Amino acid sequence: MNKNSVYIETYGCQMNVADSELVMGILKNYGYEITSDANKANVVLLNTCSIRDNAEQRIYGRLGNFKTLKGQNPDLIVGVLGCMAERLRKDLIEEKKIVDLVVGPDEYRRLPELIDVAFNGEKGIGVKLSRTETYDDIIPYREDGLQAWISVMRGCDKFCSFCVVPFTRGRERSRALNSVVNEIMLLSQRGFREITLLGQNVNSYLDNGNDFADLLAASAAVDRKMRIRFTTSHPQDLSDKLLYTIAEHQNICNYIHLPVQSGSNRILELMNRTYSIEHYLGLIDKARKIIPGVSFSTDIISGFPTESYEDHVMTLDVMRQVKYDGAYMFKYSPREGTKSFKMDNDVPEDIKSKRLQEIIELQRQISFEVNQAILNKEEIVLVEGLSRKSEQFLAGRTGTNKVVIFPFDENIKEGSDVKVKINRATSATLFGDFQEFVDPDNETLALTA
Ligand code: SAH
Ligand code: SF4
Ligand code: F3S
Repeated sequence: MNKNSVYIETYGCQMNVADSELVMGILKNYGYEITSDANKANVVLLNTCSIRDNAEQRIYGRLGNFKTLKGQNPDLIVGVLGCMAERLRKDLIEEKKIVDLVVGPDEYRRLPELIDVAFNGEKGIGVKLSRTETYDDIIPYREDGLQAWISVMRGCDKFCSFCVVPFTRGRERSRALNSVVNEIMLLSQRGFREITLLGQNVNSYLDNGNDFADLLAASAAVDRKMRIRFTTSHPQDLSDKLLYTIAEHQNICNYIHLPVQSGSNRILELMNRTYSIEHYLGLIDKARKIIPGVSFSTDIISGFPTESYEDHVMTLDVMRQVKYDGAYMFKYSPREGTKSFKMDNDVPEDIKSKRLQEIIELQRQISFEVNQAILNKEEIVLVEGLSRKSEQFLAGRTGTNKVVIFPFDENIKEGSDVKVKINRATSATLFGDFQEFVDPDNETLALTA
C-alpha cells in the first residue's frame, strides 16, 4: 500500500464535483497520490451533501461500509468533507465516532495539515466558513476529457426558507474574472470542448464591476470552439443583459436552468423565493424572444408546508405553460436550522409522493412532446464517445443538453462536432443519422441547426 494515497467519493451537486477536484489539486501538491480504489487508500474522503434527508442517509450508509474497512485496516483515515461537515460535525465525531476528520467547504487549504493531525491519532476538524475564500489560486486536478466544471462563485445569500445551502456554504463571494478566464484558457489548451460555469446563483456574480454577463462574454471569447454552459440562474435577477449576451455569442448554449420550485404565489412567498409566477413567466417569454430556440429546465419541490391540492395544480399548470425540456423534481424534506423547519411539515408523505408522481409523469409527457417536435430536424452534436448501451452507436449532446444516439462510424472521433438528423425521440433521448461534420469556426455550435 502506498503511504500517501487518497480516495475521494463525491455526492451532491456539481459544485461538490468541482470542489473534489480542488481537494485533489491541494492534496496532489502535498504529495498525495489519487486512487480510484478505496481498498488501496490510506485516506478515504467523502465529499457530502445535506440538501435532503435521503442524501444524508445515503452517506451515513456509506460511512458504515468504511467503518468495516477500518476494522480491517485500523490505520485508515476516514474523513467527511462538504456540506454535512458543517451541519453534523458533532454528531459525526463525538456521538457516532465514525470519522477521524471533518472539513467544511471553506477549509480545504488546511486539509493536508488536518490529515496529519488525524494520522497522529487526534481528530482533524476544520469547519469555519469564510467570507472571502474562493480558491482562486488553486489549480483543480482534472483528468483529460471534453467537459469541465468551473466554480465561479461560492455560497448563497438568498435564504430560501427550505434550503440548507446558505448555512452549509456560507455567504456569497465571487472569483476574479481573470482567474476564471485563465482556467478556461488552460482547459482549451488541453483539448476540453465544453465548460460549465457554476454557482448556486450565478446571476449575482460580481467582480470589480464585472457581472455574470461580463464573465460569460469573457469566457466565450477564450475559445470559440468551446461550448459554454452555466448553472444555476435565480429567477429574481436574470438580467436582460445576460439574455442578450447568451444570444450574441454562438458558443454560449441556448439553455437556461431556471428553478421555479412551485407554481403558486402563496407557496413561493412562504419559500422566500422573492418572485411571483407572473414575473417568472414574463422572464421565460422575454428569453424566448431574445434567444430564439432557447430551452429551459427547472427544479420543483412538491409538498412544501401548507401546499394544497390547488397549489399543486398551479405547479402542473406552470409546467404545461413553460414546456420545460427537463426537470429535477423533489419531495419537500424539512432541514433543521432552516426557516421552514419551524413550519408544520403538514403534507402527509403519501400525498407528497402522489403529487410528485404526477409531476414526474407530466414532465415525462412534456419532454416527449418537446422531443417529437425535433423529428426530421438537424441538431449539432458534440460527440462524447460510444453509447453506454452499445458499441455500435455513438453518443453526444446538443447545445440544449439533449443526448443524441447515432450509428458508429470510425471516422467520427470524440470531441467532433457533427450534424445529426433526428429520426426518433423518446422523452429522454434523441436518435438519428450522421449528416456531416461541422466546421466549428463558422457554424453556430450551440444552436439547433
Ligand atoms: N441554487 C439553486 C438550487 C440549489 S439546490 C437554486 O436556487 O435554484 C437544488 C434543488 O434542490 C433546489 O432547487 C430545490 O428544488 C431542491 N431543494 C433544496 N432544498 C430542498 C429541501 N429542503 N427539500 C426538497 N428539495 C430541496
Ligand atoms: Fe438554496 Fe435558494 Fe440559495 Fe438556491 S438560491 S442555494 S435554493 S437558498
Ligand atoms: Fe448538496 Fe451542498 Fe450542493 S448541500 S446540493 S452539495 S451545495
